[in-house]
Amino acid sequence: MNMQKRIALITGAAKGIGEAIARRLIQEAYAVILVDVDGENGEKLARELGENARYITCDISNEAAVSTLFAKIDHLDVLVNNAGIIRDNLIWKMSSEDFDRVIDINLKGTWLMCRAAAARMRDQKNGRIVNIASRAWLGNPGQSNYAASKAGVVSLTRVLALELGRYGVLVNAVAPGLIDTPLTQKLSPEVLEKLIQAQPTRTMGQPEDVANAVAFLCDEKTQFITGQTLYVDGGKSVGAGI
Ligand SMILES: NC(=O)c1ccc[n+]([C@@H]2O[C@H](COP(=O)([O-])OP(=O)(O)OC[C@H]3O[C@@H](n4cnc5c(N)ncnc54)[C@H](O)[C@@H]3O)[C@@H](O)[C@H]2O)c1
Repeated sequence: MNMQKRIALITGAAKGIGEAIARRLIQEAYAVILVDVDGENGEKLARELGENARYITCDISNEAAVSTLFAKIDHLDVLVNNAGIIRDNLIWKMSSEDFDRVIDINLKGTWLMCRAAAARMRDQKNGRIVNIASRAWLGNPGQSNYAASKAGVVSLTRVLALELGRYGVLVNAVAPGLIDTPLTQKLSPEVLEKLIQAQPTRTMGQPEDVANAVAFLCDEKTQFITGQTLYVDGGKSVGAGI
């Protein structure tokens, strides 16, 4: 990897939104570290992106694995915490295992990555962290685990903005709405159509729409914005919902 370039680490980079972020940051002349548990797609993407991309397997919910990951990284300018999962159900049907797994990856995994990166960025007095939350943090039936995990991500973002601001580290969140990725492609066509018709724009977002917002927040020209949550949701978070 070219160490002259700004280095960005993206979790959940093997597909979907994470892949789009990696492609976008490569265009912006970053060197990218792709982190995922999906080695097949991660390695394939790294090969396609070329010499400025490197894939490393890491389950971000595993504390020891996160330590091992950071031991392999010399320098980090940008951390994008994108890895996340859903395990939807109404609360009376939701198992505690499905609650724990979603919290472990979406919230604790993001926290473990932030903790490791924060120490580095504090010492180098420079850095950007972008956490991928979700519009669902505002509340979504069937997502008591997921919405709570993403509310935690928004709160974590605000706290880290306060803790790291004096060290020149800016921390923001992006909250996507309905985005066309392998995660939403699992929904039935009927459910998907209903969700699209409930959007102010009557469209789904593309992974590139989220990647554009991340690129803006990471850009060195973008200063003085920290602790914020930027919605990329076709306007779904706006209005009283009636
Ligand atoms: N797609 C949407 O509509 C939507 C909406 C709002 C928020 N989001 C959020 O955007 C992010 C990306 O979503 P997506 O739609 O691209 O999902 P996706 O399922 O297409 O991709 C997620 C990636 O994360 C990886 N991953 C899962 N668990 C991991 C772990 N423990 N450690 C490392 N990597 C792991 C997966 O292997 C996968 O490659 C998630 O945080 C999701 O909650 C997505």
